[in-house]
Amino acid sequence: MKVDVLLGLQWGDEGKGKIVDVLTPKYDVIARFQGGPNAGHTIEFEGNKFVLHTIPSGIFNKDSVNIIGNGVIIEPFIFYREIEKLDAQNIENRSNLLISKKAHLILPSHRLLDAAYEQAKGASKIGSTLKGIGPTYTDRTARSGLRVGDTCSMNFMEKYEKLKQKHLRILDNYGFDYNSYELDGMSYAEYEKKWLESAEFLSEFKLIDSEYYINNALDEGKSILAEGAQGSLLDVDFGSYPFVTSSNTITAGVCSGLGISPKRVGKVYGIFKAYCTRVGSGPFPTELEDADGDLLRKTGNEFGSTTGRPRRCGWLDLPALKYAIMLNGVDELLMMKTDVLSPFDTIKVCHAYKLEGESIETIPYDGMELDLQPQYTSRKGWKVDIDKLQEYSEVPQEVVDYVKYVEEQVNVPVSVVSVGPDRSQTLFT
Ligand code: GDP
Ligand code: IMO
Ligand code: MG
Repeated sequence: MKVDVLLGLQWGDEGKGKIVDVLTPKYDVIARFQGGPNAGHTIEFEGNKFVLHTIPSGIFNKDSVNIIGNGVIIEPFIFYREIEKLDAQNIENRSNLLISKKAHLILPSHRLLDAAYEQAKGASKIGSTLKGIGPTYTDRTARSGLRVGDTCSMNFMEKYEKLKQKHLRILDNYGFDYNSYELDGMSYAEYEKKWLESAEFLSEFKLIDSEYYINNALDEGKSILAEGAQGSLLDVDFGSYPFVTSSNTITAGVCSGLGISPKRVGKVYGIFKAYCTRVGSGPFPTELEDADGDLLRKTGNEFGSTTGRPRRCGWLDLPALKYAIMLNGVDELLMMKTDVLSPFDTIKVCHAYKLEGESIETIPYDGMELDLQPQYTSRKGWKVDIDKLQEYSEVPQEVVDYVKYVEEQVNVPVSVVSVGPDRSQTLFT
């Protein structure tokens, strides 16, 4: 067997959580392979709504095993609060949640560093979620990080103190007053106490060598789905650098983030919104700073699942989508939030950019920072609500035409059209 992959093709928040939950009954194992609590994956069913940050979105199916892979970074106190919420709703999570011992830990001081670096950048800040993602991946690469397995070691506190002191020295250099900075409404000292208790809590979960578990499961014929976080345009190598996250969000990240060979990657599902959103700073060629952008934000309820920030909204960007499809080797596309386009008389799609008078369909170096002028194709809207439809055969012809247009442009079939946040609002084409 092989590991199938589901990942976002835009700037994150494409609806990965919803779709992983929909696909979970087809898989024995769901595994996160990168990112950390910068992710916010929303799942809705039977009137309940959950937002997951670290835990895979397969957790609501009691028959599936959920793995937090070695490529993920875990903040124990955020993890603790996530588990607390699942417990409160009687969602079982002790027996079917496995955590890689090699996943790195986000310390409270990593979060302080994130804040200090952003503050120092001023107007050119990345717009980080301030969960400590960049500093933690930096320590991993610098070979000074702490890992989940360390929480069980006798000298954990010694290792913790050593890393923390390194961070405090950097913070002093930045002139960052960490004693008066609040972390999730708490003082640093208070937060650190909770974090240390949570690290112990985390050490009592099933900690495993997930690379062995996953490869053995494949040998035994088990089916595995890898759940991406963020999106391809936030990838540290290929995203709109430096306005990116600090991990490889693309298919390649599955191999290093789970410990599997590229030969074991199976089907790649690419998920995209029928338009585009971005939260945080950085280029966004099709961004709409007008009434249409406001209408997308309002209809799509485009406010961040992790930070509550309003998301920037714009039309679908085909050159960017094609780029992401190329990087990931996408086999099937899933088009999300199609219902959000229902109020529009005219829907625009960017098919090329104009750069210095020339039409281009590729993403130039310097990402999209250059003055790219989106070239639009206008399409007629359908102007009826589609969120209650049960079958793809019931959708208006304009929806079918929109899907066909995208398929023709990118040369990959669309297998799912999503028409609402609930599990049930999913149409298979
Ligand atoms: P993720 O990070 O990719 O899992 O996506 P988020 O959960 O951050 O953001 C997607 C948002 O859109 C969530 O609030 C979902 O409940 C919602 N959503 C998902 N699919 C649809 C859809 O087809 N239509 C609408 N209207 N909302 C959707
Ligand atoms: P999910 O998995 C949308 C963005 C941040 C910021 C940049 C760097 O829910 O799709 P970081 O905290 O990683 O240092 O932030 O990346 N970002 C996301 N945007 N969805 C996400 O995750 C994101 N995770 C990070 O807004 O611009
Ligand atoms: Mg999200």
